[in-house]
Amino acid sequence: MAFFTMAIVAPKHKFLFALTLVFAIGLHMAVAGDADILSDFTVPPNTTADAKFFTFTGMRVLVGAPPPPSFKVLKASMAEFPALNGQSVSYAVLEYPAGSVNPLHTHPRASELLFLIDGSLDVGFVDTTNKIFTQTLQAGDLFMFPKGLVHYQYNQDAQKPAFAISAFGSASAGTVSIPTTVFNTSIYDGILAKSFKTDVVTIRKLEAGLAH
Ligand SMILES: *[C@@H]1O[C@H](CO)[C@@H](O)[C@H](O)[C@H]1NC(C)=O
Ligand SMILES: *[C@@H]1O[C@H](CO)[C@@H](O)[C@H](O)[C@H]1NC(C)=O
Repeated sequence: MAFFTMAIVAPKHKFLFALTLVFAIGLHMAVAGDADILSDFTVPPNTTADAKFFTFTGMRVLVGAPPPPSFKVLKASMAEFPALNGQSVSYAVLEYPAGSVNPLHTHPRASELLFLIDGSLDVGFVDTTNKIFTQTLQAGDLFMFPKGLVHYQYNQDAQKPAFAISAFGSASAGTVSIPTTVFNTSIYDGILAKSFKTDVVTIRKLEAGLAH
């Protein structure tokens, strides 16, 4: 309002200046209130936005590497690859030795699109009506885990490892591991026993298995 009043009495160039200021303030407020970025990309302070900034080389360690001894995830999310900030995408590379499982977990901020490159996997998720969806994937298959739902992947093969790549619809999908969240935090044992309709001895047994 002050700018408008000034603009009416001011010469033409001052009017344009005032109008620009009003516009700039309005635009700034729109950026501050919107989680979706209004620029092509975002660059952390003191970082140069060159081709290197848009390149992630953290997966090179996988090329020609022997299979890991236990289930292993290598992530390219915003934390590892800052160029993803504001772009709503990320990746994880998943390696499953024979007989290994990616334990029950959820991703609170994204759905997951898993692409099985090698081996086979038993996968499943449970929806909010408690309905379970399971599938046995073979190499070349894709499977979609809806956002926020509890899911797992299991390599039931006793000899062959499995290898998959997962894409996420968030730069920071987040992972909530069910066993860790429930049995490896300081939730009172009595509450866990009541929640699972069992006794504290049984709860302590479950906790002991995750403690190391
Ligand atoms: C960026 O660099 C300048 C000078 O090199 C320094 O004063 C400033 O604190 C840096 N800012 C951040 C966010 O690191
Ligand atoms: C359980 O918590 C302990 C202590 O924070 C940690 O060292 C251990 O790795 C956790 N276990 C699992 C399976 O996450």
